[in-house]
This record gives sequence, structure tokens and C-alpha cells, in this order.
Amino acid sequence: MCLSAVMKSVAVLVLLSLLCSRTDAVHMRDPNQNSSDPAVGLDRLDLVRRVDPRFLSVTIDASLAAEERFMSLLSSPKIRTLAKALTPAFLRFGGTKQDFMVFSPQRLRPDSGFTAEQSCDTLELPLWLEKKLKNDWTQQQVILMREDLQRKYKRVKFTEYTVDQLHSLTNCSGMDLIFGLNALLRTANNTWNSSNAHLLLQYCESRQYRMSWELGNEPNSYEKKAGIRVDGYQLGEDFTRLREMMSKSQLYHGAGLYGPDVGQPRDRRTDILEGFLQTGAEAVDAVTWHHYYVNGRDTSVEDFLDPEVLDTLALKTHEVLERVKLVSPVKPVWLGETSSAYGGGAVGLSDTFVAGFMWLDKLGLAARLGLDVVMRQVFIGSGSYHLVDDNLDPLPDYWLSVLYKRLVGPEVLSAVAFPSVGVSKRVRLYLHCAHRQSYRRGAVTLMSMNLSRKPARISVPGLGSSGTVEAFVLQSDQPGEEGLYSRSVKLNGELLKMVDDKTLPDLKGSRLRPAQHLQLPAYSLAFFVLTDARAAACA
Ligand SMILES: *[C@@H]1O[C@H](CO)[C@@H](O)[C@H](O)[C@H]1NC(C)=O
Ligand SMILES: *[C@@H]1O[C@H](CO)[C@@H](O)[C@H](O)[C@H]1NC(C)=O
Ligand SMILES: *[C@@H]1O[C@H](CO)[C@@H](O)[C@H](O)[C@H]1NC(C)=O
Ligand SMILES: *[C@@H]1O[C@H](CO)[C@@H](O)[C@H](O)[C@H]1NC(C)=O
Ligand SMILES: *[C@@H]1O[C@H](CO)[C@@H](O)[C@H](O)[C@H]1NC(C)=O
Repeated sequence: MCLSAVMKSVAVLVLLSLLCSRTDAVHMRDPNQNSSDPAVGLDRLDLVRRVDPRFLSVTIDASLAAEERFMSLLSSPKIRTLAKALTPAFLRFGGTKQDFMVFSPQRLRPDSGFTAEQSCDTLELPLWLEKKLKNDWTQQQVILMREDLQRKYKRVKFTEYTVDQLHSLTNCSGMDLIFGLNALLRTANNTWNSSNAHLLLQYCESRQYRMSWELGNEPNSYEKKAGIRVDGYQLGEDFTRLREMMSKSQLYHGAGLYGPDVGQPRDRRTDILEGFLQTGAEAVDAVTWHHYYVNGRDTSVEDFLDPEVLDTLALKTHEVLERVKLVSPVKPVWLGETSSAYGGGAVGLSDTFVAGFMWLDKLGLAARLGLDVVMRQVFIGSGSYHLVDDNLDPLPDYWLSVLYKRLVGPEVLSAVAFPSVGVSKRVRLYLHCAHRQSYRRGAVTLMSMNLSRKPARISVPGLGSSGTVEAFVLQSDQPGEEGLYSRSVKLNGELLKMVDDKTLPDLKGSRLRPAQHLQLPAYSLAFFVLTDARAAACA
């Protein structure tokens, strides 16, 4: 619906020309123009909207704190380095376990036991301990997985240490921390019991931790997870209560509050969202919902490459946006937790090269459809949808995310794909202004992916003979379909890996000769920066 609305309103940009009759082609052109018209200048691109500069954000699942010592992993020098490269971004701490976590402070007075503020460098995790924790984490994952399968969640206590670690990671890397509070602490009349949250806010305030808040995770499944039913209306009141608490705090009266972190629309879930909006819309700064394309235990590589599966995001997004617009027309809407597959991800898929198609398409589509922030489940930790593996080494989706951060600006430009052959849906394109920190005004970044095997090429009219294009093409380190399952990725032919624990490699583009066609190898993800596009919308 919205897609076709966008289509009607757009200017040309890129023309993907046919090579032969068996060609897989996408035309990107102005519907008001004759198809024989070669091109309209890139200066005619329309600005569709602007997303939050932290659009690409990440999460850490609360299960990491189920055994608190694993929170120490957050002070690994590698993790710090990897986090830094993803800023600006939110780091959301939450998930199923958040509604089973109770703050149990260890210190009598909030600030006893602390020395003066330590600098970020002195807090490093010693290598031997990092090694031990990484080892033990394998065991811990098995326990967490079992708990998830049986849907029997143990209540866990966490201390100051968990928040200290989260704050230290975000403060030292430049991310913005969002902490998810437990909404399943209820009173006898089923209102939220805020006393534990109050204790936590007090502690965080005493430490002067700048952060923002959420309350509850996927309330639509509280009955399944805990045998407690909370309707949207009540949840909205609970958020209002939290907002009142925050407004009484010197540090948090202006801080962010986001929610209700509902699952994607399906049956009762929309009721929860609707009820919540009635009573809670005023209390939150953004409405959050969660999205996964498929069930991790029941999916295949074909799903990960299927344009129809990728398009399901549009349907769900429209449903949510419509509901929010009715009640609260200007309230930002965020994907508060999202990944390829639910249930911890799909083993062998969610952490391999093929996951990049769902991830990049989600980033492109979500921005165009009207979402302002997308938080990737997870940065590190549970399941197989992480950006950084259990050895704390970056996976293909991490590199994709870093490239996105460096190359893609928050301005979303109109871009339309006109499929002329059935299979052409397999070449997907999105367009933003190029990132200002890396490129001059007027530059444009084209994100594209090739899910196809048939030949076609993208030509960029209106770029002129002097126009330069910087290409960043990501491919698996292994050829063919096997490569889809690889955990390593090449940028312009070079394997990506950290130089050392504190250094990322140079992520260099390759300069294409002027007016050249843009070629996308099979199963590839690419960013093309049109440095001389002089797009007025990006000036
Ligand atoms: C397309 O070309 C035809 C034939 O040259 C012309 O009659 C028509 O007005 C053109 N349409 C547009 C939208 O330019
Ligand atoms: C870390 O926190 C200190 C004290 O609250 C603040 O002055 C500093 O700007 C923060 N650093 C970052 C990178 O957010
Ligand atoms: C809320 O929880 C606290 C701590 O468990 C408890 O002491 C208090 O009685 C509860 N309040 C209500 C109204 O249930
Ligand atoms: C529910 O209990 C809380 C705490 O005991 C109280 O403040 C609130 O007014 C009660 N709400 C209703 C609807 O009875
Ligand atoms: C997509 O990959 C196929 C297979 O290598 C190739 O023939 C085709 O030209 C590519 N499409 C684009 C738009 O580059």
C-alpha cells in the first residue's frame, strides 16, 4: 500500500538496463516518463523522510545477565572497539528474561565501594578471564536454550554490577543505553509494582548514569511465559506510572521512555497495542514493536533469499503504523527488537553470510516505510543471530552494519524498482543521502542486493562522465551457494577481519571508472556511493 504510494511519487534514478532476453532486470525510473527516456538527473531525487541518526541500533539480550559474571564480557577490549564503530546507536538491554529480573543491590549505600570514576581504559577485562568466560558461555547457552524451550523462566537477581557494566560499555563507546525494566512485578490488583524499579532508578541516579528506559518485553505472551495476563490498557497505565516516577527524578525527568515492545501484529497483539496507546501513548517517546521474518526452528536458506518473505515486513509495518497514527499521529515508531528468525535465530543461517539479505533489506525497507530506529537482536550473546560470535569476533552482519553506519545518511530518498520480468524482484535497491561525515554534500548512497542468478546490470544515468562511484561489494569468502553459509565475508575481494583487538581494518571502497555500469555479483550485498550525484535533496 505504502510502497505503491511511494512509487507514484517518485523521480528517476537508476536504470537497470536489459542485456538480453533472459535478463533479470529492474528499471528505476519516473513513472511519468517514457521508458525510452534515458534518464532524469539525480538532482531530481525526492527526500522522502529522515530517520533518527541512531537508526541502526543494537540490543543485548537480558539473558546475558542471568549469570551476572558474563556481564564482564562487556569490558573486553574487542567488544569496546566493535561497539565504538557502530555509534551513534542505542544499546537496548532487554528481552524475555528482563521480566524475570529483580534488582538486588549488594552495597548498603549506593556509592560505597566505589573509587573515583575510572577511566575507560583501566576497566579492561584481563585476557585470561575473557577466555574462561567465553568457554563457560557455551555451557550457559545450553541452559538458557532449555529454559526457553520449556518456557519456564527462573527469576534472577542482578546487582549493581549489571548496570555498571552496561553503562560503562555504552558510556565508553558512545552508545546510548536503554534499560528494560521488569513489568511482571505486579500487585494483588494486577497493577505494576514499581518498588523494585524505584530502587534501580535511585541507584542509577546516584551514579549519574545517563540512560533511558523501557518497561516489559512482549507483553502479548505474558500468559504463556508466566501465567499472568496484562491487557494493553493496564500496561499503558503502568507506563504512565513509570513516567511519573521519572519526572520526579532530577536526572531522568527528561530521559527517554519507550514501549510497549509488543510482538508483531497477530491476533490479540494488536489489541494490546491499541489498549496501550489509549492510556500510554502520552507516556512514551516512541512506540516499539518487534519483528522477525521466520521461526528459527523451521526455516531454510530459501526463506532468507525470498523477496516475498522480505516483503512481509511491509505488511506488518503498515498495520502498526496505521494503529499508531490513529491515536498519536507524530509519535515515532521503532523496531525495538528485531532479527531474521525468532527462537534465538536459525542455526547456521542467522549468523552466516545469507543473514545479510534480511538485515540490509530490513534497514532499507524500514526506513522507507516510516520506522525511525531499528534495533538488531543481538550485538553479542544468546542465540545465533548475534553480530559478534562467541569468540567475540565479528560476523558478516557486523561488517555490513559498520559499512551502513559509515556510508548511509539518515535522509531517505525516493527509489522505485519496476520489475519488468518476474524474477527481477531479486534485485533490491534502496537510496539514501550519503553519510555527511564521510562524503560531500549531494552525494548519494545506493544500497543494493542481488538475490539472483540471471544477468542484469544497473546503469546510473545523469551521473555524467565525471561522476565517480565508490563501490563496497560484500561477498562470501566462498563461491557459490556454499558461500551463503559462511561466517566470513569479503569486501571488494578482501577478507574482513580485525587487525588486532583494538583495530578494525580499513574499509576501503573501490573506485569505479566514470559512467560505468554497476555490477552486482550473484548473492552479493553492495553500497555504491555516487559521490558526484549533486542531489539537491542531499545538499
Ligand atoms: C510518451 O511518448 C509518447 C509517444 O512519443 C507521447 O505521446 C507521450 O506523451 C509520452 N508520454 C510522456 C508521459 O511523456
Ligand atoms: C560518560 O559519562 C561522563 C559522565 O557522566 C560524561 O561526561 C561523558 O560525556 C560520557 N561519555 C560518553 C562517551 O558518553
Ligand atoms: C511491591 O513489592 C515490594 C517488594 O517485593 C513489596 O514489599 C511490596 O509490598 C509490594 N507492593 C505492593 C503494593 O504489592
Ligand atoms: C492497585 O493497587 C495499588 C497499590 O496497592 C494502588 O495504588 C492502586 O490504587 C490500586 N488500583 C486499583 C484500580 O485498585
Ligand atoms: C546478479 O547476479 C547474477 C549472477 O552472477 C548476474 O548475472 C547479474 O548480472 C547480477 N545482477 C546485477 C543487477 O548486477
